[in-house]
Amino acid sequence: MKISELIKKFPEEKDLKAHSRPYFNHSIEFKNIFTPLERAEMLDIAGLNMFFFPSEMVTGCDLLSDSGTTSMTNEQWAALHLGDEAYGSNRGYFLVMKQIRETFGEEFFNDPNSGRPNAFIFHQGRPAEDALFTIVGRLGRDLIIPGNGHFDTTGANIKRNNMQAVNLFSPELTSESSGSHFKGNMDVERFRTLLELSGKKIPLSYLTITNNTGGGQPVSMENISEVSRLSHEYDIPLFFDACRFAENAWFIQQYEKGYRNKEIRMIVKEMFSYVDGFTISFKKDGLVNMGGGLFLKDKGLFMKKYPDIPDALMGYQIDKEGHPTYGGLSGRDIMTLAAGLKISVKEEYLTYRINQVKDFGEELHKHGLPVITPIGGHAVYLDMNKFFADTAMKPEDFGGLAFTAILLAAYGHRAIELGNFSFGHYDKKMQKEMLPEFNFVRFAIPRLRYEKKDLDSVAEAVNILYENRDKIPAVNVTYGRELPMRHFKARFEFRK
Ligand SMILES: Cc1ncc(COP(=O)(O)O)c(C=O)c1O
Repeated sequence: MKISELIKKFPEEKDLKAHSRPYFNHSIEFKNIFTPLERAEMLDIAGLNMFFFPSEMVTGCDLLSDSGTTSMTNEQWAALHLGDEAYGSNRGYFLVMKQIRETFGEEFFNDPNSGRPNAFIFHQGRPAEDALFTIVGRLGRDLIIPGNGHFDTTGANIKRNNMQAVNLFSPELTSESSGSHFKGNMDVERFRTLLELSGKKIPLSYLTITNNTGGGQPVSMENISEVSRLSHEYDIPLFFDACRFAENAWFIQQYEKGYRNKEIRMIVKEMFSYVDGFTISFKKDGLVNMGGGLFLKDKGLFMKKYPDIPDALMGYQIDKEGHPTYGGLSGRDIMTLAAGLKISVKEEYLTYRINQVKDFGEELHKHGLPVITPIGGHAVYLDMNKFFADTAMKPEDFGGLAFTAILLAAYGHRAIELGNFSFGHYDKKMQKEMLPEFNFVRFAIPRLRYEKKDLDSVAEAVNILYENRDKIPAVNVTYGRELPMRHFKARFEFRK
């Protein structure tokens, strides 16, 4: 009997409950071991601020961010050695140009000799936002940039240029009864009203895919096309904040009608056919540790409506980052980006990655923890208002900060508060904390880095804290309460 016939008598591989990862460890790094007491002492020195705690002392999982924390593949490490550090038109630039065209569409990277510059490389996402909004901010006064949920740096870059960042979150985002898989959508009704009232003040609209500020939730193709249609009806270009474009495409493939049999590559192309440009931090789905960019669609509405902007952008880029053919990145970084972008749309990688995040979130949910469901693509979000609902913790006690400090000191895992402190602000005139719409702690999962056992250990620790939530005290802000982007700078202490 042929072995191909014989194996048909056994259960099929696809029906196994446990599947091995679609990759294996290429090289590893041993962690240093620190005791809870050593971590607690260091956390005191760091003023309980997660950003100031030395990463080498994170003995558990470092879930502070999924940004720039990816483990690279062997192909990327090999590509690093092929980096060309020439001052103009290095080897990697042409490879990245080819890869951008293949991934997002031909129209997003013109030949540099065409006389129509439309692709601008930056060293990460926020300088790309800075360039876009600095130049767009010069178009008029009292301008408004509507979005489905601006990321904090995007919001800050919009405001710094005297424009208003308006968040039109989907009402489904905090609804427990909603079974929607696309809670990252923009609220189309509120968008329509804003267009009717203030369309003339809107230089561009913005969709963040996936919606990091809005629970890491994806945006549906239907929402993308509807927002694009409405925006264009008012002659307003639409942009993506495209950091997690591949993860968003995976959700469309899995959960949106009509996409189950479409390849991720094709879904990505369709998504980008609706926009006139995008900013991106390649530190997420680009699978690199550094890199970003701003890309305008050739002959798209933005290029047509503002024909002088591309030149102004290039001037700005040269002043800030250097020549457009390297844009603040070393040649070797550019090589790893060309290799990383190829992998990011691989189906088996995305399926494993997103299911890993989902399994971790479901482990928490199973134990009654208030996680945002369905679980998003890159992170699990814990609703701290619900977490502390039956305790004496008040919103201005910043329970989320206290939770992250104890999780790190006692169990060695680092997460981040994205809620009342990070997204709120202190109103000096009213002498009061102004609370944001959401109060989350986020566990962001770095790409290709951790295994199931690692995340099981985080889930167990979070569970213990939930069971002992009444023992978590409030924190006082000892420095930085009134500062902009205060969560990066402030210091805290536990209240006696
Ligand atoms: C949605 C989103 N936009 C923009 C950025 C900014 O990118 P970068 O950190 O590369 O400046 C981030 C970073 O986390 C993000 O998540």
